[in-house]
Amino acid sequence: MGGPCWVRSAIMAAPWLLLLLLGLAGRGGVLRVHGQADNLGFISIDCGLPESASGYVDNGTKLSFVSDAGFVDAGTNYNMSVEYITPSMDRSFHNVRSFGAGASARNCYTLRSLVSGLKYLVRAKFMYGNYDGLSRSPVFDLHLGVNYWTTVNITDADTPVIVEAIVVVPGDSAQVCLVDTGSGTPFISSLDLRPLKNSLYPMANATQGLVLLARANFGPNDGRLVRFPDDPHDRIWFPMSKPTEWSEITTPLKVQNIDEDKFEAPSAVMQTAVTPINASKPIEFSWDAEPTAKDPAPGYICILHLSELQLLPPGAARQFFVTINGLLSYARGFSPQYLFTNAVFNSNANYGFHQYNVSLNATPNSTLPPILNGLEIFSVLPTTGVPTADQDVSAITAIRGKYQVKKNWMGDPCMPKSFAWNGLGCSYAVSSPPSVTGLNLSSSGLSGNMSASFASLKGLQYLDLSRNNLTGSIPDTLSQLSSLTFLDLTGNQLSGSIPSGLLKRMQDGSLTLRFGNNPNLCSNGDSCQPPKKKKKSKVVMYAVVPIVVVLVTVLLSVLLFCMRRRKKGTTSRNSVKPQNEASTALSHSRGSNGHSSLCLDNRRFTYAELEAVTDGFRRVIGRGGFGKVYDGFLEDGTQVAVKLRSESSDQGVQEFLAEARTLAKIHHKNLVSLIGYCKDREYMALVYEYMSEGALHEHLRGRENKTRCLTWRQRLRIALESAQGLEYLHKGCNPPLIHRDVKTSNILLNANLDAKIADFGLLKAFNGGGDTHVSTARVVGTRGYLAPEYLATFQLTNKSDVFSFGVVLLEIVTGQPHILNDPEPTSIIQWVQQRLARGNIESVVDARMRGDYDINSVWKAADIALKCTTHAPEQRPTMTDVVAQLQECLELEVARGDATAGFYTAGSGGNPNGYSGYVADVSTDVSQSSTAFEMEHFGRVTSMSSGPAAR
Ligand SMILES: *[C@@H]1O[C@H](CO)[C@@H](O)[C@H](O)[C@H]1NC(C)=O
Ligand SMILES: *[C@@H]1O[C@H](CO)[C@@H](O)[C@H](O)[C@H]1NC(C)=O
Ligand SMILES: *[C@@H]1O[C@H](CO)[C@@H](O)[C@H](O)[C@H]1NC(C)=O
Ligand SMILES: *[C@@H]1O[C@H](CO)[C@@H](O)[C@H](O)[C@H]1NC(C)=O
Ligand SMILES: *[C@@H]1O[C@H](CO)[C@@H](O)[C@H](O)[C@H]1NC(C)=O
Repeated sequence: MGGPCWVRSAIMAAPWLLLLLLGLAGRGGVLRVHGQADNLGFISIDCGLPESASGYVDNGTKLSFVSDAGFVDAGTNYNMSVEYITPSMDRSFHNVRSFGAGASARNCYTLRSLVSGLKYLVRAKFMYGNYDGLSRSPVFDLHLGVNYWTTVNITDADTPVIVEAIVVVPGDSAQVCLVDTGSGTPFISSLDLRPLKNSLYPMANATQGLVLLARANFGPNDGRLVRFPDDPHDRIWFPMSKPTEWSEITTPLKVQNIDEDKFEAPSAVMQTAVTPINASKPIEFSWDAEPTAKDPAPGYICILHLSELQLLPPGAARQFFVTINGLLSYARGFSPQYLFTNAVFNSNANYGFHQYNVSLNATPNSTLPPILNGLEIFSVLPTTGVPTADQDVSAITAIRGKYQVKKNWMGDPCMPKSFAWNGLGCSYAVSSPPSVTGLNLSSSGLSGNMSASFASLKGLQYLDLSRNNLTGSIPDTLSQLSSLTFLDLTGNQLSGSIPSGLLKRMQDGSLTLRFGNNPNLCSNGDSCQPPKKKKKSKVVMYAVVPIVVVLVTVLLSVLLFCMRRRKKGTTSRNSVKPQNEASTALSHSRGSNGHSSLCLDNRRFTYAELEAVTDGFRRVIGRGGFGKVYDGFLEDGTQVAVKLRSESSDQGVQEFLAEARTLAKIHHKNLVSLIGYCKDREYMALVYEYMSEGALHEHLRGRENKTRCLTWRQRLRIALESAQGLEYLHKGCNPPLIHRDVKTSNILLNANLDAKIADFGLLKAFNGGGDTHVSTARVVGTRGYLAPEYLATFQLTNKSDVFSFGVVLLEIVTGQPHILNDPEPTSIIQWVQQRLARGNIESVVDARMRGDYDINSVWKAADIALKCTTHAPEQRPTMTDVVAQLQECLELEVARGDATAGFYTAGSGGNPNGYSGYVADVSTDVSQSSTAFEMEHFGRVTSMSSGPAAR
């Protein structure tokens, strides 16, 4: 067959069927439905149906629909424009809920009372019908829980879009979220949930779901959809026929499901089938891969539902092979069983083709042509996003419920990061699920007593409930929050005494407690303060703190500082700190030796403040020669990274100060910015903006199962931005600066994956112009990134940074470490050179990008990287050259993205230029691995040939 894909066109054509045929909606039956699910466990939601309206029974399926009011907090109801309403239309299409102006970017429906770990079919329907009178069909994303599900692209006002997924639900509720991606207002017409037995669709498991691409019922096309009650699982089967090529076979007899049926295709589907009119021809069909920005290389699962419908005379046999893209996938010769459901399917998704052609071919022994009763095609949906810890979700959900917090508090509290709830601080440790560490509900109109659930947020470090209308007493359980370092209850109506546990925490300095302007609150168990007048202010707030507490704190801190001092004294006696270079750098960059006079614009922290910010230096997020980097929160909840110089640090005082001074002076969007510093006696620390996505090297290696692999476009943007940061140091600063420690662990990423260069401890100024190098007394930096001339002669130029950046760029292209064990330790430069010498870019490029890149763009990037790492420094490009070249790489890649997007959505055949190389490459790959398209079956099938045993 080849040519345009008919499965796809059938899907495209299917919507009108849905309208004409499934749209048997009655205005008739009126039913009030309580609770969320009906007795089958089905939830059928008519989105946008006013809360006051009764639920109703759908005329076709006899299923009960309810209003969505109990499932979602946001959005506005609209009616579809009358000219789009047809008499036969499904009633649930008549109205929509829309999330326009004033709504958050993510709006979620919560389906409750599910069973954690069970499998569900979730289906959402969308029909625009010009409900907003704007005649603008939107495009938006759907998320299922914390995972991207699909992009909904509404193309016509009168064409419904139906999306369906089969997933294992990780908790006792599931969330379907509509995400505004800036291409129109998200809306939804209806939402269905159907429980499935866990034995069904075994490919859907805890880490992957299935997204429906097609579900077809082969046989006479009478236009009738099969769904509930004919399919007890309420899947929607679209009729499919091709009278010019196929004849139809039907039977009035019921087709049975076998005992361990994995799909339970309904008899109504299985009782009809097609077979080629020309008995020597195969049955063929195809579909196009539908890559998207979010899922650039989707994998597919194909399920053929097969049953023999004719009682075969003795000597007759129906047996066929299944091939995908010309490769034998079911090689044993399959014979469907008479009046029993069988299926042939692939358990592992197939990847990498832009079109899949499936063919059912009779074996030489077969006397009858192949048969096909039903078909499902799914793409796989990785569901590896880790939701916020259950306990925190329950607690914060209870808090939201009690205080009726609206904000954008929908969906998972912390995930995805870009949609974390406003006012919530989350920690994203690599080894555990995200958890809530900060909560700012200041001035949020809270009233009533303090929820016990605050104390259930076990990881809470920061809690601000100031300026609300909270009443009642302060729960003592708060003192059990061992991580809590900041609690602000100022400006409420709280009464009673402050729990002794909290006072104790305050005394030992582990908690900053603010409770001023609570007229009825007692500061200790014995004496109650008389209600204060409006005069409040910080003075009052601190005045109520018992003096004893203050004294103890002061004494303690004095003691602490003295002890540290003593220790410091010992250290400095025993170790000699490298001095000269940093002070040179300083005097160059500041024009004065500013060792003693640190005057920076940034905020200055005391050591005690930093202790509070970091909760006693609890969570280490990084380490280096200078000491450790800690996670912290400022009073306003801003997350920061605190780099504390350790006393045993390799980094001298001078180097540390050099970094502080330099950073205070230099500002660039691609350099990590300094929020403040601490120079409190011998304590020195720098407070930086928090880069939530960590270092680039973690994304290129490790954390693979956590984060999705960076796309080529993302990688190029990171490379370009890092290059711009370096260019600024080299060209934008006077005198120019050399970073000296450029490496993937010093390139940090924020939540938007914006790249910023960090770690300026080794930064060095040099006088540009003719004399473009400086000599240093010793080699610093990181092995494998150092330019050969610097290693050999200690001669440092800005070309040393260019060399290191070249190594970084090679890592970005290959995903390999800068030194490989291959099996001997080999530098990445050598490794890439050897492979590229054979003209083979594919063997170099990170395989995890699955070929999804513009080949010229990758070649060019590898070429730039190798130029940067040439042995002779004068042959290396400048960072300005590198920036310009990388810009071109990015343009090539962006152009490709646009071209392929156009191709795929056009849904036509034809091979776009620039894509063929990729296809050819993947084909070679597949021919080498025979298992790529392996299919299996279940059913009572006696295969005629001997072959590998069924799995
Ligand atoms: C309900 O469906 C029946 C047939 O299925 C049809 O005769 C009847 O007109 C429908 N009622 C409404 C209100 O659409
Ligand atoms: C889910 O299925 C995929 C594909 O078969 C497999 O790689 C993965 O390990 C499975 N996950 C679980 C949790 O079983
Ligand atoms: C606080 O609650 C009291 C009692 O319900 C009410 O009278 C008062 O107006 C509220 N104040 C604010 C600021 O909401
Ligand atoms: C949506 O579909 C239309 C028509 O197929 C296409 O032109 C457009 O690019 C698509 N938009 C997105 C964001 O996929
Ligand atoms: C066809 O039949 C022959 C003879 O019975 C047998 O040896 C062979 O394996 C069969 N081939 C297939 C594909 O079943």
